[in-house]
Amino acid sequence: MDIQQVLKLADDLAFTKTGKHLSSLQETILTGVWSSQKYGEIATTCNCTEEHVKKVASEIWQLLSEALGEPVNKSNFKSTLKRLHISIVSSTVEKNSVQIGSVNVCGDTSHSPKTPKDRSPSPSETTKSPIRQDLRDAPDIASSFYDRTSELATLQQWIIQERCRTVAILGISGIGKTNLALHLLPQVQHQFEFVIWRSLGTSPTLQTTLKSLIKFLSNLPETELPASTDELLSLLMEKVRSHRCLIILDDVQTILSSGQIAGNYRPEYQNYCTLFKLIGETCHNSCLILNSWEPPREIVALSRENSRCHSLQVGGLGAAASEILREKGLLDEDKWECLINTYRGNPLWLKIVAFAIQELFSSRVAEFLKYDMLFLGEELKAILQQQFDRLSELEKQVMCCIANEIDAVAISQIIEKVQISPPELFDALQSLGRRGLIEKLEAGDRSLFSLSPVVRQYAKIDRE
Ligand SMILES: Nc1ncnc2c1ncn2[C@@H]1O[C@H](COP(=O)(O)OP(=O)(O)O)[C@@H](O)[C@H]1O
Ligand SMILES: [Mg+2]
Repeated sequence: MDIQQVLKLADDLAFTKTGKHLSSLQETILTGVWSSQKYGEIATTCNCTEEHVKKVASEIWQLLSEALGEPVNKSNFKSTLKRLHISIVSSTVEKNSVQIGSVNVCGDTSHSPKTPKDRSPSPSETTKSPIRQDLRDAPDIASSFYDRTSELATLQQWIIQERCRTVAILGISGIGKTNLALHLLPQVQHQFEFVIWRSLGTSPTLQTTLKSLIKFLSNLPETELPASTDELLSLLMEKVRSHRCLIILDDVQTILSSGQIAGNYRPEYQNYCTLFKLIGETCHNSCLILNSWEPPREIVALSRENSRCHSLQVGGLGAAASEILREKGLLDEDKWECLINTYRGNPLWLKIVAFAIQELFSSRVAEFLKYDMLFLGEELKAILQQQFDRLSELEKQVMCCIANEIDAVAISQIIEKVQISPPELFDALQSLGRRGLIEKLEAGDRSLFSLSPVVRQYAKIDRE
């Protein structure tokens, strides 16, 4: 194995994992390590400090470890790559690509890697069992991803140890559901024979979704697929029972209705409920992961009734969100906690506000926070509007009532102000909770409800 092959293989792994090629410094470090140089010697070659070389090297080891699903470091880099090279060469005598850890690597290492979206659903295999994957619909994985350790551990436990049949990843827009699922894949996909990611972002009918899943799972051409939705459903269930399939459906909220309590379907998408129920209730070893702003009705019922169906409400990033602010080069680190708390650790909201702080205040967080009025900006307002537009009239009234109170309010106080019956209020509060729009606190023997600063601010604007 010559150094060009080493760099090519490492670059393939890095590119498929992060969407970025190795930098020239990274390549020089790998070349140095391959020829058993010390970090100090490599630093001299690169004309930079040994500390910097060590930092960049540790990032590469981390990246390669994640890509390969095993620890990679300076001392085992050579032996690991040699072993991989042998495994690729022998596995690709008849196949086009081999699955190593979390990524597909082309057998012919003389070709440059395609973007992750171009990964074809052609047969691939692990050293353990063959996996076929179709991730064409999956977005590119973000270059930086912080924490989520406990969420990933929970999801892994549900999918691998408990063999869950449905797993819903729920949360407000921008909280990181899609990226969480993307980072989960490398940790669980080795358990499955088929892995397929589909987005419901364009609101495909159930027929369209079923056809696209079955075409991949059974390799049948479109012309040979049954015409009726019922037959397609049976065919899909047959595949799901006979093979271990991991199906990820992203942006499921697009098939759910607006103007009603959370979880109801838009009229033309009602039949998705049959798919969710069949997958949740039938005996098989496959798994359906759903990403959504709110849980479809059946998913709520399944998560309540069935031990092999679970839902995860994704919250903010907490202190780990500091890394996003650091990455954006913000100043006044002592004020970051306040900023993170105000924007509830939502990575997208924080990215938007960090950008505004860069542009308006030359990255000075303290100066930005001097203004009492919470800044939303057009981009964040547009995101929140999409969430608010989905609310029922009752939910909007309840939101407005809670927004107008400085302190958190009890159910009895809301009833007095909004004048709705307790059952109606219970429905509205449950629904708002499932949408991740209200916060519940316990105060002695009472539950109190409040809104995060950002949601409160938008609720006020929305009613103007
Ligand atoms: N754990 C994380 N660390 C850093 N950035 C994150 C993290 N999770 C999400 N992001 C960023 O936040 C934004 C929204 O993430 P995304 O997964 O698309 O959210 P959702 O699917 O919930 O709408 C993206 O820019 C993404 O890169
Ligand atoms: Mg998403």
